[in-house]
Amino acid sequence: MGAERIYHVAISDDWEMSVPAGSYEAATRGTLWEDGGYIRACAAEAIQSVLDARYADLTLPLLVVVLDAEVLRTEGIAVETDGSSARIYGALPSADHDAVVETIAIERAESGWLAPAGMVAPAPTHVEAHPSVLYVGTPAYLIGTTNDDGTPNLSPASSHFALGNMLVLGIETDSQTSLNLHARGELTVNFPSPDSWQAVVRLSSLTGRDPVPLHKARRYRYEPDKFGAAHLTAQASDLVAPPRVQECRLQFEAKVRRMTPGVGGGYDMVEAEVVKVHADPRLLRDRDGHLVPDRWHPLIYAFRHLFDRGPEVGWLASSPTAGGPPELD
Ligand SMILES: Cc1cc2nc3c(=O)[nH]c(=O)nc-3n(C[C@H](O)[C@H](O)[C@H](O)COP(=O)(O)O)c2cc1C
Repeated sequence: MGAERIYHVAISDDWEMSVPAGSYEAATRGTLWEDGGYIRACAAEAIQSVLDARYADLTLPLLVVVLDAEVLRTEGIAVETDGSSARIYGALPSADHDAVVETIAIERAESGWLAPAGMVAPAPTHVEAHPSVLYVGTPAYLIGTTNDDGTPNLSPASSHFALGNMLVLGIETDSQTSLNLHARGELTVNFPSPDSWQAVVRLSSLTGRDPVPLHKARRYRYEPDKFGAAHLTAQASDLVAPPRVQECRLQFEAKVRRMTPGVGGGYDMVEAEVVKVHADPRLLRDRDGHLVPDRWHPLIYAFRHLFDRGPEVGWLASSPTAGGPPELD
């Protein structure tokens, strides 16, 4: 078990003068005991903040007394620690080389006192963050549905995951897409390539709902011809009524199996079964029709920005398109 080290900042003269007598009683900055009868100490990483808070204006030489808290306790001196601060209830046995591990002179720079190297608080590996959205990066998709009058609607979205042939989409309840899915339960899910990012942006301020829902009125306008507005081409589907988007290299035809209100309100979780997949043949391996992941470049939507995919870094042993299992360190 490692020794329990605690650290006391002392004025060098006070400390040196105490050594012949073997007893040091300055609580902090040369004053005697703190109220409550203790001497202050701290953890290594708190030394800099002690120097900044209490010694910044002092120019007398300082040192850090490194103490072994366990030894102090065995010598009958109570030591309490609380986070990075410690209290020592008794005079320090300044000539006792078991309790006093070492003393280290503190250097002063122009900016102030510098805690000895290795006694600086480590930079935090994480801090609490407050991003405005939690969209960490998923492919954007264009969801095709059919309106009451048989015309198509097309909307950008990103919230989804897939398991087997089921897709789970997060769809806002105030959208025309939601109305269409509730009414007819058929859809296409089309994945644009990075070079189609402008179509996504063009669609981002449009809704197929007329009138535009009140709280959307500032950012959205009604647009009955979303394909035209986005400069995209409708392509007939085989098994569902809504059209696909010709420019998208991967397209799913799907049927709604369940729509469940999201607990947060304002959106449904749409579980849709993919009944047919269409792919640009250039994405597929000739001999068996497997989709070659390296050729697949969806448009990634992350924290409201749009990206291409980066280079491949690895694969799973179960991949039918990999040359063999990945090599791990
Ligand atoms: C990049 C992007 C991602 C979006 N993701 C979603 C989403 O996952 N779910 C959703 O319901 N709306 C999403 N939206 C907002 C819809 O596109 C928006 O509600 C739009 O009004 C829907 O059109 P509609 O009313 O014609 O259906 C997203 C918009 C953009 C631009």
